[in-house]
Amino acid sequence: MRLTAAPLRQICGQRRTLATFVERDIVLLRQKLNQDNFILTKPLNPANRISTHKGDISHSDIIGKSPRDLVTSSAGHDYRVHNVTLAEYVSLTRRLVTPIYPADANLIVSLLDLHPSAAHEAGKLEILEAGTGHGALTLHLSRAIHAANSQKPKPLPSPAPDSVGGEPATEDSSGSGQTESDDALTAWKASRKAVIHTIDISPKYSKHAAKVVAGFRHGLYADNVDFHVGDASGWIKSEHERRNSDQPFLTHAFLDLPATHDHLSAVASALKNDGTLIIFNPSITQIVDCVQKIKQQDIPLFLDQTLELGNNGTSGGKPWDLRAVKPRAAPKVQSGEESSDCVQSSGSEEPEKQDQNITRDPAQTLTEAKPEEPNWTFVCRPKVGERIIGGGFLGVFRKMNNSARP
Ligand SMILES: C[S@@+](CC[C@H](N)C(=O)[O-])C[C@H]1O[C@@H](n2cnc3c(N)ncnc32)[C@H](O)[C@@H]1O
Repeated sequence: MRLTAAPLRQICGQRRTLATFVERDIVLLRQKLNQDNFILTKPLNPANRISTHKGDISHSDIIGKSPRDLVTSSAGHDYRVHNVTLAEYVSLTRRLVTPIYPADANLIVSLLDLHPSAAHEAGKLEILEAGTGHGALTLHLSRAIHAANSQKPKPLPSPAPDSVGGEPATEDSSGSGQTESDDALTAWKASRKAVIHTIDISPKYSKHAAKVVAGFRHGLYADNVDFHVGDASGWIKSEHERRNSDQPFLTHAFLDLPATHDHLSAVASALKNDGTLIIFNPSITQIVDCVQKIKQQDIPLFLDQTLELGNNGTSGGKPWDLRAVKPRAAPKVQSGEESSDCVQSSGSEEPEKQDQNITRDPAQTLTEAKPEEPNWTFVCRPKVGERIIGGGFLGVFRKMNNSARP
């Protein structure tokens, strides 16, 4: 028997790729003769039209079409209709802040090493993301953990008024106003095996991001995410209070916000032993500020990797060598050579001398700095032998047990 699109959707429990487009779908239109000319539609609504410089396209002409079908504008130009990918969606939706771009988001998700299918045995995945921004990384994270959670219960049909009291039949007898649907949703939320707590200080950005997340494929990934408005460190504090416990509860954290170093102590207090924290900073010196803060305040975080995000079509991130170090002996300056390494010094040692010392023979002249030691400095350079390209930086940290400090 050949299945038509509609029954296929019902069998799968959700409408998707091979089906025809329906109301509220968001689709990508690509001009047939110019693939670079594309349009991300609003949610399809038969009453709406898209105005382009190549003529108008009615939403009703798209509804009922299949992926790769053609629609023709009022000026006679053909456009091919496509399902929009997550990468296209986050890149093309109207933005209020700069998002993490898809290639970088994929790398971050990979570095976080999320295993949703193991969450049932290994324990709940709780991921903090601050700030939410556009919701671009939020969507990538949510897609990555989606398999951990069961399907959200469908809302009960609107209750008919009770024939005696006129009260809705499903309303809680306690009079709290909580309905059976609300109770079921609360219970389902508590039962999730993986959740993203995403927080932004701006109510406006948070609201916009929630809309962006809810807009992708009819909210396919929206229910794995809890949106919060406030300061990242403040939220962690209030969450400890709400849980009535100082115990760490986060398995993973990602920070993309100004003054990242100010939030490390709070994040470390909430991160479980060996949990992963990734920070994104536009500049390597901001990563240095974080490492410096960790040393100064003895925050139990270990810098595992420093990566420069590629923008040359490379993927995987360019490894940087970033360590707080203590020179073993006074460096011997050799004249006539220059290094492009960036070195920040905490003490009075001359940066140029440090620079050459570090460049020449790191293994012999440098040891890992202890927090209490004065005059430590930084190795801060692309790893030897790697290609040099531009972009932002990721610092990948692991939470250390106090007892497991080096
Ligand atoms: C560059 S955007 C993040 C973009 C996001 N990663 C994405 O992929 O769309 C930085 C966000 O951090 C938020 N922010 C700034 N300070 C904050 C704080 N103290 N706590 C939480 N969010 C903050 C800003 O409002 C802004 O939305």
